[in-house]
Amino acid sequence: MIQVRVKPGVEERISGFFPWVYKPEIIGYSKPPQKGDLVVVRDFGGKFLGYGYINPSASISIRILSFDKEEPINQELIRKRLEQALEYRKRLKINSNAYRLVHSEGDLLPGLVVDIYGEYVVVEFTTYGMNRLRDWVIPALIDLLKPRGIYEKTDEYVASAEGFREKGGVIYGEVPEEVIIWEYDLEFIVNIPQGQKTGFFLDQRWARRLIRSFVRPGDECLDVFCHTGGFALSMKKAGAGRVIAIDISELALETAKKNAGLNQIEGIEWINANAFDLLRQFHKEGRKFDLVVIDPPSFAKNRASVPNALRGYKELLVRGLHLTKPGGYLAIYSCSFHITREHLLEVLASAGKDTRRQVRIVAESFQDLDHPWVLQMPNTLYLKGIYAEVL
Ligand SMILES: C[S@@+](CC[C@H](N)C(=O)[O-])C[C@H]1O[C@@H](n2cnc3c(N)ncnc32)[C@H](O)[C@@H]1O
Repeated sequence: MIQVRVKPGVEERISGFFPWVYKPEIIGYSKPPQKGDLVVVRDFGGKFLGYGYINPSASISIRILSFDKEEPINQELIRKRLEQALEYRKRLKINSNAYRLVHSEGDLLPGLVVDIYGEYVVVEFTTYGMNRLRDWVIPALIDLLKPRGIYEKTDEYVASAEGFREKGGVIYGEVPEEVIIWEYDLEFIVNIPQGQKTGFFLDQRWARRLIRSFVRPGDECLDVFCHTGGFALSMKKAGAGRVIAIDISELALETAKKNAGLNQIEGIEWINANAFDLLRQFHKEGRKFDLVVIDPPSFAKNRASVPNALRGYKELLVRGLHLTKPGGYLAIYSCSFHITREHLLEVLASAGKDTRRQVRIVAESFQDLDHPWVLQMPNTLYLKGIYAEVL
């Protein structure tokens, strides 16, 4: 295996289990590596630090899969990691047949995402190195899960940035366009090929459950950025009266309506609109709700876009506060890696000041437990939710 030396000082971070080596931190190779080669990372003096795979041209050059000298990367290790991932999900007793089985670095399998939708599996490769290990990954998944089908949903942009061509589509068995999954007492249609992400926002399962705590019978609720209706339907299950749900995606709303039918739920008004425009209009009209949920897409794809993203959250929170009745509740989420909970709290405080609405924080939520995060990489806790009572 190719040996890689890193600059003095870098070993501090890696021996503390930080799983990445950046390109400028590498000082030499035992032989020039090819993209995706397996490597041994060593400190300046030659001491073992970890086993990983390399993409010499990428700024994150090495991703480490094992910090244990006795645990080199081979087919058995990949299978063991998948078994460990499955064991952990079984322990969680998730109230759904849809869950994230592999969450990349969070499961010591950097570059791999595996989502389960009942009898179907969706895989996503996000690095060249993990894509090169696909012939170890896919057979192990088939053997462990015995799925009816596997769909690959690797993002075209991510694949081309890493320098590989994604396969895409059904790669094993058969996968219908729509799969019905259940979460607590609700059923949802998931459109794997055309839906957003791998088809469903699995990471918000905890939040969709928690929101029910804030609904009183008959409450008027607003679900902004509703996608296929996760929050709107949960609020209805908790006894909400009239619910308005907004999304810009026609496909998401079509599916949301079907989901309402599937669960025999009536009384949700689905509106296809740009949320920013519609919230402005609702504010002008003086509309008020008992509970407002705002779950926007990621506004900050990189660090440079944080200031713009914060302006977006500020606008949503100002509108959201205006639209919340006194004594009502407002929940806001951010799924951006670069937006911290402190950012969200600061923006909420500033929106409260501008609108003269005092709030108190009653709860917080994060990505659900099947999305473990890496202690050494705090922004892998990417999904944050703040629940405020608006006085
Ligand atoms: C994070 S997802 C919401 C997930 C949803 N709450 C759930 O639990 O399934 C964000 C949603 O915002 C929608 N969206 C993006 N930009 C929008 C806009 N300007 N106005 C309205 N909806 C938008 C997307 O179509 C997507 O469905």
